[in-house]
Amino acid sequence: MSETWTYTDGDYPLPRPTDAAAMHTVAGKVVIVTGSGRGIGRGMAVHLAKGGARVVVAEWKDDLLASTVAEIEALGAECLGVPTNIMERADIDVMVGRTIERFGRVDGLINNAQTFRPLADIATVTEHDVDVFYRSGVKGTLWAMQAVHPHMAEQQWGRIVNFASSMGITGGAGFAAYNASKEAIRALTRTAAREWAMDGIVVNAIAPAAATHKGAGAQQSEGYRQFIENCPMRRQGDPEWDMGPLAWFLCSDACRYLTGHTFMADGGAFMWA
Ligand SMILES: NC(=O)c1ccc[n+]([C@@H]2O[C@H](COP(=O)([O-])OP(=O)(O)OC[C@H]3O[C@@H](n4cnc5c(N)ncnc54)[C@H](O)[C@@H]3O)[C@@H](O)[C@H]2O)c1
Repeated sequence: MSETWTYTDGDYPLPRPTDAAAMHTVAGKVVIVTGSGRGIGRGMAVHLAKGGARVVVAEWKDDLLASTVAEIEALGAECLGVPTNIMERADIDVMVGRTIERFGRVDGLINNAQTFRPLADIATVTEHDVDVFYRSGVKGTLWAMQAVHPHMAEQQWGRIVNFASSMGITGGAGFAAYNASKEAIRALTRTAAREWAMDGIVVNAIAPAAATHKGAGAQQSEGYRQFIENCPMRRQGDPEWDMGPLAWFLCSDACRYLTGHTFMADGGAFMWA
């Protein structure tokens, strides 16, 4: 789609939905969630499946992949597991190829996977650290967006959700390479939002704060104490019930006039940022 729309009263350029409730559903949508073996990825995948989406679980750890697939299948929902290392471009192409082979379409892509490295500050961060964050975060997100784009553009409908971080936005000390990769992902998000808007594709990012595998030990840390102190809701988010609904909205027809934005799913902790 390339022409510019003009709005005149009574001649609205986009067909208006006739059913308000139907806008808010993900039923039948085919959504790929990378890194959905555990954590926020698992929470969103399960939540979307409960809403009737057909979820593709893309994950590099076999045991984690199997557990999320089993959990979704136990709900009676349709799901496809594809072993995927998001750092390998060939794996990404297989992930999208198998999705098309199985479902004939792809409606949503959630670029959640990120491979982590130990904390390192600017003075000591290594090239290997930078490479791992960039290959899994920036390049993984970019190649996956490229792989789904022709399919979404052809159907004039697509939803892409990338993963950023409040650490990148605020410049959290000790997170040098991570912060750089997360801010690069936000730049890709805005660029794709601009380039693909007329293809019917909206592209947004989530900067989450959610309790994941880091476990009880993490709750003794200074970072956790500071977060809770700054969070009006005094708690971390739940992967399924706090992150899931946002992913649901961003993958639905209801998200039709929002693109290129970062949604802070953090209980208000970083509203100042
Ligand atoms: N948890 C938070 O509070 C928080 C805060 C800011 C940003 N984030 C972002 O949210 C996303 C999810 O974070 P999380 O806390 O759930 O992480 P997590 O470590 O709990 O889960 C990450 C998942 O991705 C998978 N994964 C890692 N590398 C992969 C690769 N190369 N290929 C395929 N799968 C891979 C892991 O096996 C795991 O299942 C990440 O992008 C993270 O940077 C999380």
